[in-house]
Amino acid sequence: MDKIEISTPGKLMLFGEHAVVYGGPCIVTAVDQRIKVIIEKLNSQTVVLNAPEVNIENLALNFGSNNLDQIPKGGKFVAAALNNFNVQFPLDNGLRISTISDFSSKFGFGSSSAVTVGVIKGLNELMGTKMNNQQIFDMAYKSVLDVQGVGSGFDLAAAIWGGTLYFITGGKQIDPLRVTKLPLVIGYTGIKADTATWVRFVANRKNQFALPINSVFSVIENVVVLAKKALEDGNWNSLGILMDINQGLLESLGVGTVELSNLIYASRLSGAWGAKLSGAGGGDCMIALSDNKQNVEQAIQAKGGTIIHAKTNAEGARIE
Ligand code: MEV
Repeated sequence: MDKIEISTPGKLMLFGEHAVVYGGPCIVTAVDQRIKVIIEKLNSQTVVLNAPEVNIENLALNFGSNNLDQIPKGGKFVAAALNNFNVQFPLDNGLRISTISDFSSKFGFGSSSAVTVGVIKGLNELMGTKMNNQQIFDMAYKSVLDVQGVGSGFDLAAAIWGGTLYFITGGKQIDPLRVTKLPLVIGYTGIKADTATWVRFVANRKNQFALPINSVFSVIENVVVLAKKALEDGNWNSLGILMDINQGLLESLGVGTVELSNLIYASRLSGAWGAKLSGAGGGDCMIALSDNKQNVEQAIQAKGGTIIHAKTNAEGARIE
């Protein structure tokens, strides 16, 4: 085999953000906006990367031992994935790696994680190295930590397994949930937020105020456990209330913004069962639960938000 094409889904965090970085559970769903990673063998001694969505054109990388500090931002995750793959399975021929994305890297849909998984799964198929999903996860998680130093890995699990997952930090538990329907509206604030920055912000708060912040994390854990049941039972009324509680707890961590709150309150006032931010906070996306999507979408748009149309519970990484 000389060429492989893999596609991986983006993700949406439903419950448990931030607390999951510190050992708690979260619930994540894969979305049907996907990233394609195409890997071709070349008769050369370098790897050439093209990733137009992050302005990377013909970037030359080594098979392994790439110094991440010297790689432009958009190429770091691919370089880290190559480094880690090469440690376990030394590469001995050139490669052309190209990525094509359905979604903008500015939404918090997890484009970096989706690409990291695509590269590792693609190399696994192309080189016949027979890693299973858990081994792909472990290598991808190490790669993400090599680049950004922080993160729970939940987005990698969504990219690999797809569906809707109950996930515990570092992949200690990854349980697919039985979710048939999820009437969700996704609103984008128009503000790009950097996850690592907000994870560090919460880490600073935790250093300064360990007791209250740890208490907030433990309440978030309770909320996630209840949300798992409500989600599997399709109990939207309870799930909406739990979203509101989770949002209040995220506010107390300090990751809310007025733009997120505007969209969240607009959703609630237009009849949503509940609404919360999704992801690290500081901007980016919010989600609302409603069976009257049109009303909620209009309310979000009236407050300056952009509706993102994406189906949840999407299929995981696949060979195209
Ligand atoms: C970001 O989407 C979610 C966080 O919990 C970070 C992580 O889990 O890696 C804030």
